[in-house]
Amino acid sequence: MTDLHTALITANAISRDYTVGGGMLRTPSVVRALSEASFELHAGKTLAVVGESGCGKSTLARVVTLIETPTAGEFTINGQTITTDTTEASAELRASIQIVFQDPYGSLNPRHKVSQILQEPLVINRPDLSSRQRDDRSREMLSLVGLRPEHHERYPHMFSGGQRQRIAIARALMLEPGILVLDEPVSALDLSIQSQILNLLVELQDRLNLAYLFISHDLSVVKHMADDIMVMYLGRVVEAGKTDQVFHQPRHPYTRALVSATPVADPTSRQQRIHLEGELPSPLSPPAGCAFNPRCWKTAEQCRTQRPELDNHGGRQIACHFPLDDKDTAD
Ligand SMILES: Nc1ncnc2c1ncn2[C@@H]1O[C@H](COP(=O)(O)OP(=O)(O)O)[C@@H](O)[C@H]1O
Ligand SMILES: [Mg+2]
Repeated sequence: MTDLHTALITANAISRDYTVGGGMLRTPSVVRALSEASFELHAGKTLAVVGESGCGKSTLARVVTLIETPTAGEFTINGQTITTDTTEASAELRASIQIVFQDPYGSLNPRHKVSQILQEPLVINRPDLSSRQRDDRSREMLSLVGLRPEHHERYPHMFSGGQRQRIAIARALMLEPGILVLDEPVSALDLSIQSQILNLLVELQDRLNLAYLFISHDLSVVKHMADDIMVMYLGRVVEAGKTDQVFHQPRHPYTRALVSATPVADPTSRQQRIHLEGELPSPLSPPAGCAFNPRCWKTAEQCRTQRPELDNHGGRQIACHFPLDDKDTAD
């Protein structure tokens, strides 16, 4: 019997570096794309990862889906430990965690019919199934993601963006994974289509008890479906906690700025929009101290010299020397 409370993923300070440049005249430099990320992901739950483009979200996605190994730290998937030395993971482990990318054009082979796209993972991983059984499964999956039986023999270009994302989700589910990593799954879609895909994801999660690691640069996308949120800045987690808490009482100034940029349904809200000045710095030369300090309105001397650790504050984690309280306003 499985313990309902056991995490499907437990990540312990995972980091990922890339070496860039180098060549005849240059010395290579190291980009720390992801630094010491720790989290748990549970069955039936959604953990959202948010932050500006370039903060390391896709790097995290590639590491946890075993596309790349971490360069430091370790994590477990279904109790199996992955370290910097893991050269090979079993096919079974790989099948248990699947990824959906932002761009459904790029991720579906244009020369293959939907039936072939969906059945390919079965051909590779399930030699025990007959072609009839594979066919039954891909047809079932097509209906589960809200497509029609006649779509089975069509090519990707014959579908709209939203329909193509349904196909990508269907393909990710063919091996019955417990975990889906969704890397900006709706960012390329029109707003009205976005909500249809989000609704589909919620439905599938309920039905299949899926765990989602949901990546988005846009906080408003994850607001209604995430149980927990992890906010990243320049490769590091700066705030993590329950979705409600993070939204209604952001404590890190960066989270506060992100929340203030999301549309509010209540027009009388006193929420003040915070415009962050400056660009995200390059991870090749991160600012000393707190990486957010050049853009922060609370910066003090300590922030320029000492990096704040991610610490527990009343049930959530914050990496800030001067966390906000409820009365704080940006000025
Ligand atoms: N393969 C790579 N080689 C070198 N640098 C990389 C590589 N992948 C990502 N990076 C760098 O790591 C940082 C994080 O990238 P990424 O994880 O794609 O961020 P996000 O998905 O949040 O936009 C960026 O500065 C990016 O340029
Ligand atoms: Mg990305």
